Amino acid sequence: PDNGCQIGFGPMTDGFVYADYNDLESFKNAVDDDTIAIMVEPVQGEGGVHPATKEFLQGLREFTKEKGILLLLDEVQTGWMRTGKPMSYMNYGIQPDIVSMAKALGGGMPIGAIVTTEEIAKAFTPGSHGTTFGGHPVSCAAALAEIEELQDRKLDENAAEMGAYLMEQLATLPHVKDVRGQGLLVGVEFDDFIDAVDLKHRCVDKHLLTTAIGKSVIRLVPPLIISKEDVDKAVAIMREALEDIDREQDA
Ligand SMILES: Cc1ncc(COP(=O)(O)O)c(C=O)c1O
Repeated sequence: PDNGCQIGFGPMTDGFVYADYNDLESFKNAVDDDTIAIMVEPVQGEGGVHPATKEFLQGLREFTKEKGILLLLDEVQTGWMRTGKPMSYMNYGIQPDIVSMAKALGGGMPIGAIVTTEEIAKAFTPGSHGTTFGGHPVSCAAALAEIEELQDRKLDENAAEMGAYLMEQLATLPHVKDVRGQGLLVGVEFDDFIDAVDLKHRCVDKHLLTTAIGKSVIRLVPPLIISKEDVDKAVAIMREALEDIDREQDA
């Protein structure tokens, strides 16, 4: 709450309370008799690239079942092969009640969807959740083609393999404090010497696109088709940019 994602967009949807990510007790304490659901990202994206621990997500599943409340996963960023599995929750051996998805689902075409059980889906009847472009035929055709492509080319396996290689290579860079992520959703946290926004701009100048989260984290969300050579190129550019910073500081 109150971070860059929310500032300027208030008031937020009523009825939500927040708990500390990866802290099962904090979530349990936030639930009362009026709670109907818990919603989390399996890997926090904008929040700094923090994967849920197995203990946390499996614990939430168990707890929500016990309480008779729903477990909702926001997989807009993590969904469709990004984390090394079709959906990130599949890395945890759990079955959520509702999953939202977008981004990779459309492969660039605008589409978002939620997926749920037949039982819960009964809450929606045709027209009860309409949007101007909902079910747009061109976007739906593109999404179907995209899913086929993602599956045929086994891009979940590529994300797992390249993600592990990328994280391993990033860890060799100077000023790195932490490298974390799941598949090809990767965050690099730098020490105080590095300003992530400055580093991002230096990388853009060298034709590498990244995003900066807060002061010290660079997020990398490369295309799912990325190869080892692409990873090497990207890491070399980041190394060059970091060495430029060091050199300027010494001068
Ligand atoms: C985790 C997560 N949820 C939701 C959204 C917003 O999705 P949409 O633009 O499809 O509403 C984003 C956008 O980046 C996201 O990262």
